[in-house]
Amino acid sequence: MSEEAKLTIGDNSWSFPIIEGTEGEKAIDTRRLRNETGYITYDDGYGNTGSCQSSISFIDGEKGILRHRGYGIEDLAANARFLETAYLIIYGELPSQDEYAAFRGLVHDNTQIHVGMENHFDGFPLDSHPMAILAALLNSLGCYYPDLATNDRDQDLENFDTAAPLAISKVRTLAAMTYRMKMGMPFIYPDPKLLYSQNFLHMMFSTPYEKFEASDTVAHALDLFLLLHADHEQNCSTSTVRMVASGGANLFASVSAGVSALWGPLHGGANMAVIRMLESIHKDGDDGSRFIEAAKRKEARLMGFGHRVYKNFDPRAKILGEACTRVLDELGMNDPLLDIAHRLEQAALEDRYFIERRLYPNVDFYSGILLKAIGIPVEMYTVLFAIGRLPGWLANWREVASVGDGRIHRPRQIYTGSTKRDYVALEER
Ligand code: CMC
Repeated sequence: MSEEAKLTIGDNSWSFPIIEGTEGEKAIDTRRLRNETGYITYDDGYGNTGSCQSSISFIDGEKGILRHRGYGIEDLAANARFLETAYLIIYGELPSQDEYAAFRGLVHDNTQIHVGMENHFDGFPLDSHPMAILAALLNSLGCYYPDLATNDRDQDLENFDTAAPLAISKVRTLAAMTYRMKMGMPFIYPDPKLLYSQNFLHMMFSTPYEKFEASDTVAHALDLFLLLHADHEQNCSTSTVRMVASGGANLFASVSAGVSALWGPLHGGANMAVIRMLESIHKDGDDGSRFIEAAKRKEARLMGFGHRVYKNFDPRAKILGEACTRVLDELGMNDPLLDIAHRLEQAALEDRYFIERRLYPNVDFYSGILLKAIGIPVEMYTVLFAIGRLPGWLANWREVASVGDGRIHRPRQIYTGSTKRDYVALEER
């Protein structure tokens, strides 16, 4: 007999089936709960809620495992490139040589944006946050490719193989243009001969007179950063993308919502917050211990620490921490912030407060130092996270559009407001 969960409330009992994922994770299938019992589940923050079935990424937070389509993140980080990983995440298999060449060809063919889009940049104040600009422009992309953004699920799915590499290519161009606009510098057009991350750095840092040529160390470090961010199961932004997609919205609208969700400091914005935190610790002449005490008193938050799912270590943080030291060595740099980060990490890992709450460095702890070392301005860090996460959002959009049961995502709530009241005329108030 298959396993089931029994629910007893007063004199009534119901049973609900157990469903099991391919890696043995078990869930009580409560889809019939409200119809049969009149009750709903309450799970503020969704820590115990499986919102979907997905075959894209697997995380075992206790063991520090992250796999995309079955491939371990360590394996991919050591052997694959960002675009290859993007293909894997989106299509479910590592590409053959021909498939990879075709995919990269589509990415290269789409580097340029419509000249009409350049005018959009004139409308933003110079001090606009790049994440606000990116969210707006990604959504606007759909206006330039109406055939790819119809909000007709079948048609949008049919055009997905065109839309996905186009989005992966153009997000990078838009991001670099955003930086140039904010700096008051002329746009630099993409060079389709360059590799993905080299091309981004060229559009960011070349001048009309001198081409910026990223060293292999720098280009590889950026590619690794993007790869490590490519997908991460049902995090805040990916769940947002799925939520928007469930209503039938097109891919560009859905990933634009993902950018907005990513922006917050508890999510993707943490990579900026970590650097700001390390800089302020450095400026205060603190060796990190005063900051840790403040975090324990809840007067501060140790940014880049803690994770909803990882409870022993974040495998991405491990890879990035090592890459950070290697890249700084290779570039012959010595960043005092890296020393502070090492000291903070050590102190926190030995402190009861952090041990009891199982708080460890997450991916954002070292990513800011890496991005700083390769010359990325702080305001662009979360944008870089968004470029990296795009393949995951696209794969999740596609899964909702093609594999889901087609139902709109629509949670319930426990209402805690006033009970029924009668209107009182304005003159009597
Ligand atoms: N510094 C100090 N205390 C913390 C921290 C931290 N970074 N994170 C959690 N805690 C404490 C929290 O105060 C609470 O203590 P208590 O039990 O005494 O009330 C306990 O640990 C549990 O915290 P929580 O807020 O319930 O945990 P959560 O699962 O809701 O939040 C988190 C996870 C990542 C939002 C949180 O750990 C955090 O805010 N970290 C700092 C921001 C950060 O680095 N975010 C990037 C996450 S990884 C990249 C991504 O996926 O976006």
